[in-house]
Amino acid sequence: MCGIVGYIGDKNCVPILIEGLKRLEYRGYDSAGIAVVGREECRAIKTKGKVSELEKNVYSQNISANLGIGHTRWATHGEPSVTNAHPHSNKEQTLFIIHNGIIENYSTLKNNLINEGYTFVSETDTEVLAHLIDYYLKLKNNLFQAVRYALNEVEGTYGLAVIYKGEPDKIIAARKGSPLVIGIGKNENFIASDVNALIVHTSQVVYLEDGEIAEIYKDHFHAKTIHDEEIIKEIHKVDMNVDEITKGGYPHYMLKEIMEQPDSIFNSMRGRLLFEEGISKLGGLQGYEDRIVRSQRIIISACGTSWHAGLVGEYMLEEYAGIPVEVEYASEFRYRHPIIRPEDTVIFISQSGETADTLASLKEAKKKGALCLGICNVVGSSIARESNAGVYIHAGPEIGVASTKAFTSQLVVLSLITLLLARKKNLSLIEGQNIIREMQSLPEKVKKILESNDQIEKIAEEYMSCRNFLYLGRGYNFPVALEGALKLKEISYIHAEGYPAAEMKHGPIALIDENMPVVFIATKDAVYDKVISNIEEVKARKGRILAIVNEDDDYIEKLVDHVIRVPKTINMLQPILSVIPLQLLAYHVAVKRGLNVDQPRNLAKSVTVE
Ligand code: AGP
Repeated sequence: MCGIVGYIGDKNCVPILIEGLKRLEYRGYDSAGIAVVGREECRAIKTKGKVSELEKNVYSQNISANLGIGHTRWATHGEPSVTNAHPHSNKEQTLFIIHNGIIENYSTLKNNLINEGYTFVSETDTEVLAHLIDYYLKLKNNLFQAVRYALNEVEGTYGLAVIYKGEPDKIIAARKGSPLVIGIGKNENFIASDVNALIVHTSQVVYLEDGEIAEIYKDHFHAKTIHDEEIIKEIHKVDMNVDEITKGGYPHYMLKEIMEQPDSIFNSMRGRLLFEEGISKLGGLQGYEDRIVRSQRIIISACGTSWHAGLVGEYMLEEYAGIPVEVEYASEFRYRHPIIRPEDTVIFISQSGETADTLASLKEAKKKGALCLGICNVVGSSIARESNAGVYIHAGPEIGVASTKAFTSQLVVLSLITLLLARKKNLSLIEGQNIIREMQSLPEKVKKILESNDQIEKIAEEYMSCRNFLYLGRGYNFPVALEGALKLKEISYIHAEGYPAAEMKHGPIALIDENMPVVFIATKDAVYDKVISNIEEVKARKGRILAIVNEDDDYIEKLVDHVIRVPKTINMLQPILSVIPLQLLAYHVAVKRGLNVDQPRNLAKSVTVE
């Protein structure tokens, strides 16, 4: 889950690399480095920690070159350190490599190279590649072929780039499993892990597919497979502007993205609701609707927050479309022997569209002949390109590592799919129109919730030093409890668990005392009275209670320590509203604990290794 960037052209590559790395820092921030090759220069500069440390170091030395690569790291092999930071090089420091992914057979390759007399300075898998390429360079005397031969020995995943003093007019880039994009400029070209690092320079991009390797010059490039077959690559235009990837005046990307939800939710349904017909229209599923409706089963495969969205999707699809749904952790789904049939539809939910476990489970399901649909945010991402069909959530770039607006937009898209399938089955025009009316009222309702930001900040003050939290909800609100707990865990480092409220009596209730805050998602629905009883049970054990309730609820307030009010809507859409106070609570607790909200420790935005 590293970020890689590269430049070849007539400009000084150093500021371009540093700015590119800053835009990729959400992918990993353990250490960073650049390597440059030019008439005067041929070296790597690496630092431990954030790109800003590297920036200070690099700018203290007046470096200029037209060819360079840069890397920001999320450690997999070897602790965060200058030695383990990328770029790695050959002994002569004339060849440099940056890599995002994992070389699974690195220890075998390493032993072979040690037998060939190579020595190693770092604990990383990537350094093995530097020496392996060096080995073939001595044999083939051609960088492109040396990289290709080396990669034919590699097992694992990579998005990588190599530069070499002996061939200072090119970057060699290759991809297998980890994302890699080429940016096409005027008399200059770029490479990067994702378009965020390129968009300030060009909107013309080429996506490398698995098993492809490219030789990139400043004014052209050509691509082959790693088996040396020529391939013609299509240039795509990316429709994104720079403002979308800046903080827009907010202190953190996470708060900006929480506050953007009235717009992102609107954008996710823009042009997709046909009120007269009481149905939704999803261009990305055109031609597949009937096959989906006839599905024996719908399986949802995802990770993290996207998995929580899948759980809400299960409730929606079963209630309204009457199709059996199973929600799978992609990491488990890909390795156990799941029964997948051609009559099944499998939906892969992923904000980044690059999560390794979800992508691999997609390849598995595709092999078994199931209809594979993607629900993604990043346009042109691997899962989007690999799926048979799918729906973009149009939430706009999500930079904060803790997913917020992508979650609510994933729920909007799942609601649109549910409405489409349900109307093709038994849902009436009136019922369809009612759902549409409720969906169209969401942006205004979200605006109302965001107005309680200050109140939520005050509540966060009361809970910021707690060491554990329990989140409880029933029905549609159970996945919201899981999501609320995840948000708090990942950015405030407080241990938190989400549970179905009724499950509490089967164990977690033992945790409850005056030091255990319990967050109830208690909006009015068919199981509201049951939730009230659960609140009473916690109260009886002196638990501190914060409840998310509907605006017109004047009962729960008497029972609990704090309430946060959210507008009422239909059950299937209520999670889109109920989760927002939990996003803000987690955000304010983390800020009050003085933590780096946008780059929480040990995490990265897109998990491209398994
Ligand atoms: C959520 O806040 C986390 N960043 C993480 O759980 C994330 O949801 C998970 O890694 C899946 O990512 P994806 O949606 O990009 O596949």
